[in-house]
Amino acid sequence: MKGVVLAGGTGSRLRPITFSMAKQLVPVANKPILFYGLEDLAEAGIEEVGIIIAPQTGDEIRRTVGNGDRFGLRIEYIVQDEPLGLAHALKTALPFVDGDDVLMYLGDNLVKQGVADVVRDFKSDRPNCQILLTKVDDPSQFGVAELGAAGEVVRLVEKPSSPRSDLALVGVYLFDNSVVEAVNSIQPSARGELEITDAIQYLVTSGRDVRPSLVTGWWKDTGKKEDLLHANELVLSDLVEDIQSEVIGGSMRGTVCIGAGSRVVDCDITGPVVIGANVHLVRTTIGSNTAIGDGCRLADANLEESIVLDDAEIHGWKLRNSLIGRGAELHGSAPAGFVEVTLGERSEILGE
Ligand code: TTP
Repeated sequence: MKGVVLAGGTGSRLRPITFSMAKQLVPVANKPILFYGLEDLAEAGIEEVGIIIAPQTGDEIRRTVGNGDRFGLRIEYIVQDEPLGLAHALKTALPFVDGDDVLMYLGDNLVKQGVADVVRDFKSDRPNCQILLTKVDDPSQFGVAELGAAGEVVRLVEKPSSPRSDLALVGVYLFDNSVVEAVNSIQPSARGELEITDAIQYLVTSGRDVRPSLVTGWWKDTGKKEDLLHANELVLSDLVEDIQSEVIGGSMRGTVCIGAGSRVVDCDITGPVVIGANVHLVRTTIGSNTAIGDGCRLADANLEESIVLDDAEIHGWKLRNSLIGRGAELHGSAPAGFVEVTLGERSEILGE
């Protein structure tokens, strides 16, 4: 079985962060989202992976992920010239798949349980397609599956306005080579994309065996800031303490990780919190569910439920539910209370 990981797309819902970086490289608990999926594929015994990249952000993904050695994978990159849909991305990858079974994984998704179980089931039961489903509160935001009385897949609808089921499709799909016929038979949808739900519907309608599996652990699509922060919280809830740097004065509760070469002076930290390497933190309060990237500088600040990317500087601000881009800076006299900020790469806010 080959893996196809989708790391193209436009990431418009995560702007301004995605003006300058691929959304799949935004860190969750200080690790790029994409790495979680690649680790899952390696753990499931998949060895060859094609990563779909967009012309605009592909080079950064190539540089960051490399040839796959660090994951125990052989990785090839496949450029999708335009983001014309999930089924279009898979169609672009068909020469790489070369008639094998394929597991397609959306590069901005996190699946707590990994994919090893579903790969094992697919290999032993040999359906034509296996999809993962999970109950959601707002099905109209997702691809939705309707199941029949015997639990079989009856119908798939992309972002239905009046959903007839609350079972959303998780971003992991397994196919045998009948997917070639499916993606070559469908037409673009009203929004101009080749929809993966239409390809799977084609398989259902043509009498192929499409199996649903219910996801047992959590699943997160990190396409929006709120979901990204929630994913950060979910991953941090399994954090294991590891303090590799000097901590002088202040207090620490809960699970905390601090990378090498950092200096933490007179700070109050309430975990789970992950702080990267070479970070300077002075007279700062860090509340739970916060991740601070490498090389950041924070002084007299207060931060909770937030993600701060590498090399950012925060002086005097109180931030909650915030997403601060690489090398971004907040200084000057800050508002008195907590504020929620999303700041793009190397942007600067200078309080009055
Ligand atoms: P989406 O989040 O559905 O699409 P997007 O990246 O265009 O985001 P937005 O709606 O915020 O503009 O895509 C899911 C994953 O699949 C994500 O990792 C991007 C990737 N993708 C491709 O590689 N090619 C495509 O044509 C599309 C639509 C998505």
